[in-house]
Amino acid sequence: HARMALVPVAQRESFASVAAGAISQNVYLFAASAGLATVIRAWIDRDAIAQALGLGHDHQVLLSQTIGYPKMTE
Ligand SMILES: Cc1cc2nc3c(=O)[nH]c(=O)nc-3n(C[C@H](O)[C@H](O)[C@H](O)COP(=O)(O)O)c2cc1C
Repeated sequence: HARMALVPVAQRESFASVAAGAISQNVYLFAASAGLATVIRAWIDRDAIAQALGLGHDHQVLLSQTIGYPKMTE
């Protein structure tokens, strides 16, 4: 949120969601280009993630993305 000092408070959450969507799409594009699989996840333990990443009260966990190898097909 500190990086959005010039954005009106009422718009910060939607701006953050748009940014998260764009970031997520980039991860999907990279994963596809590298032959990896990924899924976006919102049902996550935000407190545990924030603690593991050392995030402060100014940071907010919106989404998570799991990356792995695609299921093998025969
Ligand atoms: C914003 C958002 C949040 C999501 N959160 C979850 C989640 O917490 N857990 C989950 O299993 N799938 C979640 N999904 C769905 C997965 O990202 C994915 O679309 C789904 O697992 C189907 O993947 P597949 O088509 O590759 O099988 C979410 C999708 C969106 C768009």
